[in-house]
Amino acid sequence: MSPAIGMHDRPPPAAGRAGRPALHVAIIMDGNGRWAKQRGLPRAFGHRAGVAALRRTVEGAPGLGIERLTVFGFSTENWRRPQPEISELMGLLRAYFESDLARLERDGVRVRIVGRRTGLDADILDIVERAEARTRKNDRFHLRVAFNYGGRADIVDAARKFALAVERGVARAKDLDEAMFEAGLSTAPGSAPDLIIRTSGEQRVSNFLLWECAYAELIFQDVYWPDYGPEHLKAAIADFRSRERRFGGVAADDVLAAG
Ligand code: IPE
Ligand code: IPE
Ligand code: MG
Repeated sequence: MSPAIGMHDRPPPAAGRAGRPALHVAIIMDGNGRWAKQRGLPRAFGHRAGVAALRRTVEGAPGLGIERLTVFGFSTENWRRPQPEISELMGLLRAYFESDLARLERDGVRVRIVGRRTGLDADILDIVERAEARTRKNDRFHLRVAFNYGGRADIVDAARKFALAVERGVARAKDLDEAMFEAGLSTAPGSAPDLIIRTSGEQRVSNFLLWECAYAELIFQDVYWPDYGPEHLKAAIADFRSRERRFGGVAADDVLAAG
């Protein structure tokens, strides 16, 4: 018997507005510090300019056939940064949700934070939870901000959830399959992105969406995040559209040839 296939391993079935499947795009927003350094500015300025880039990108995404956007805002490893920089990043998350919530709500955007909630200050958690509650019924566009997120930590948390369910007698180890495990990730449902973009020229994953990246197309763009905008996203989508995804199978043309 073949093992159960995770939901993310199947080609996306839903038809998008333009007759194409609606896309889930994930972005590692990198390069804020170098952008600032290039200008002789403190790193904080790069992070602030990064918020403006996020705003532009969120506004441009629905017009490009994107229905879900998951952005990496703060990793479990970013706690290693100097305290003032951590405070700046926390403050920006708070400010973003405060200043943009009304517009996001009006534009039909559903917002969610993914990652570990323990470790975040109570006031930030409060703002985040209020934003999630106020936009819960929106369905036009999904914005997920990975904050205090680490791919490994998320997998461990999902494993712990399952182990606790077994301990409580509400799950059995032999029933565990990929779909069930995936449901325990903080990114569920709809965990797997179609493509993952990293800006700044770095070509690494840095603990982002480790489970979910199984069949994602990876796109590296040589632009610092504060300079990013819809035109860069458009170029990434065009690159994505030119690729053939096979999910372990064979290309459509080769199905006939093989027969
Ligand atoms: C990305 O920019 C933002 C976060 C990690 C929060 P960086 O701060 O990593 O910028 P660089 O990589 O140092 O240029
Ligand atoms: C990944 O970028 C985290 C975010 C963009 C939030 P980093 O800048 O932290 O990654 P490394 O340290 O270059 O791998
Ligand atoms: Mg970086």
